[in-house]
Amino acid sequence: MKICVMPGDGIGPEIMEQGVKVLNVIGEKFGHKFETTEALIGGAAIDATGVPLPDETVKACKESDAVLLGAVGGPKWDTIDPAIRPEKGLLGIRKELSLFANLRPAALFPQLKDACFLRPDIVEKGIDIMVVRELTGGIYFGEPRGTKVENGERMGYNTMVYYEHEVKRIAKVAFEAAQKRNKKLCSVDKANVLDVSRVWREIVIEVSKDYPDVELTHMYVDNAAMQLVRDPSQFDVIVTGNLFGDILSDEASVITGSIGMLPSASLGASNPGLYEPIHGSAPDIAGENKANPLATILSIAMMLRYSFNMAEEADCIESAVEKTLSEGLRTGDIMDVGGKLVGCTEMGEAVIKNL
Ligand code: NAI
Ligand code: MG
Repeated sequence: MKICVMPGDGIGPEIMEQGVKVLNVIGEKFGHKFETTEALIGGAAIDATGVPLPDETVKACKESDAVLLGAVGGPKWDTIDPAIRPEKGLLGIRKELSLFANLRPAALFPQLKDACFLRPDIVEKGIDIMVVRELTGGIYFGEPRGTKVENGERMGYNTMVYYEHEVKRIAKVAFEAAQKRNKKLCSVDKANVLDVSRVWREIVIEVSKDYPDVELTHMYVDNAAMQLVRDPSQFDVIVTGNLFGDILSDEASVITGSIGMLPSASLGASNPGLYEPIHGSAPDIAGENKANPLATILSIAMMLRYSFNMAEEADCIESAVEKTLSEGLRTGDIMDVGGKLVGCTEMGEAVIKNL
């Protein structure tokens, strides 16, 4: 299996170093050959080549079976031409690989439950949700869009559009994710008001016929926003459009604690999937061996599960992370629940020991 590794900027190289070590240990343990190649993206690529997404990087990604990304950006590049900002590298590679599905798990590790601000009786029921967000359609891309002056008054407009093929493919990803989890899928829309949602719902129901083992429910987005904090234990997989998913995935992740713990996957139809922590390059702690590598390590578990169908290997990583947390090891970002303060390297090594 060929994996393109893009450490990026800030804490990117530190967390990725731990991640790649974990991947190599999994390779040895289970007898797989993971061949990694490094590529430049973001600020690191700007410094070396003048652009945030060099052609060689795109080529290296397309020739791989999966892509791992650290994070991009930082104050060093804040003042450069907006057309070549580091973030352009990230948007560019998502587009190049046509990554239309964004998977964001939000699981609360029992060891960190004291960091959750929900009531203890709600937390006790457990939180383990996967938000599947459509990433390349909907109101962020729909036409017509723009601003104009009408009758002497300024106005702005965007259009929420979903085509059948777009809904079908995201629904399939969500049903398949549900099959790998607890076989429950909740499709979130606003079908009581929006025509686009009525089509969305119709198509999701059609796709569900191919997944009789998955229980499908529907929920309006305003109710979903409320239910996520009222009783998150009711959800397994949530599938929704770009705008609703943007908001709900942030809401889901904040109820489970630290940004340093949360992985993500972005998947396309035939291109390699891209796996990355949800956090940024954390320039405030970069180079200080303070970063939490667990979001990156858990992103690697997602890569094994979703790109390579290696459920056992993914479980092994997730259990090792849990064991490490049970031993009380904490990086600064999760120190508020108490434990032994460790650095990025120590955390990575503890996970490897527990593999
Ligand atoms: P950030 O996620 O980098 O940092 C927010 C806060 O969380 C900081 O205090 C940071 O120290 C902490 N933090 C983040 N990840 C951590 C980890 N693994 N361990 C411990 N603490 C961690 O977001 P911010 O500060 O808004 O952005 C910094 C830079 O990152 C900007 O240039 C931004 O554009 C970029 N960024 C890149 C993303 C990506 O590559 N996917 C996503 C978000 C931001
Ligand atoms: Mg967002």
